[in-house]
Amino acid sequence: MDALDALMTRRSVRKFQNRQIPDEILDRIITAGIFAPSALGLQPWGFVVVQNQDVLNRVSEYCKPLMIKGMEHAKGGISELFYSLMIGEGYSIYYHAPTVIMVCGKNKNRFKEVDCAVCAENMMLAAHALGIGSCWVGSTEVAFDNQEIMAEFDIPEGYGPVVTIAFGYPAEVPEIPEKKVPLVKWIR
Ligand SMILES: Cc1cc2nc3c(=O)[nH]c(=O)nc-3n(C[C@H](O)[C@H](O)[C@H](O)COP(=O)(O)O)c2cc1C
Repeated sequence: MDALDALMTRRSVRKFQNRQIPDEILDRIITAGIFAPSALGLQPWGFVVVQNQDVLNRVSEYCKPLMIKGMEHAKGGISELFYSLMIGEGYSIYYHAPTVIMVCGKNKNRFKEVDCAVCAENMMLAAHALGIGSCWVGSTEVAFDNQEIMAEFDIPEGYGPVVTIAFGYPAEVPEIPEKKVPLVKWIR
């Protein structure tokens, strides 16, 4: 798969097969992440790889009601689809993915959010090229200020949570979401 194919065909996967991803593949996904550009080349990221479903369930059970409350009035498009998934039986914000990776940023780095986001996209594209589905789970963010819940991720000293991504072998082929016509302004 070439780079353009990978980025045009990657989709957020929300149904995963019940089998774990080999460590070598996860290593390749993380390696793709660290090849992302970063401000001043400082590479302010670290990775917490979570494969413990009890941990993920506890975090999900905390985040789920907060997310549902925040999206009660969702109307149309992905928001409505997302809301209907969330209120469904057995919903996990991580979609029961076998592996969730939290990309953490060095607290002292002022560009950590954008750097970790670029890193995360590299990881999702690499995963897709390797046959692994992924979904960026921003829903974790409602727990970022809850120390007890964040302790579940055992984030190393000096780092804070930025992006969580669910990974697994896909059990669905999601549709291409509608692409809005972007604002493009040329100056020449
Ligand atoms: C910052 C951010 C947060 C997101 N949070 C969630 C989330 O919590 N749960 C989820 O199912 N998808 C989440 N997504 C995935 C988006 O819903 C998805 O990228 C979008 O609908 C476009 O679909 P595509 O990724 O298949 O192109 C998030 C994506 C981004 C970039």
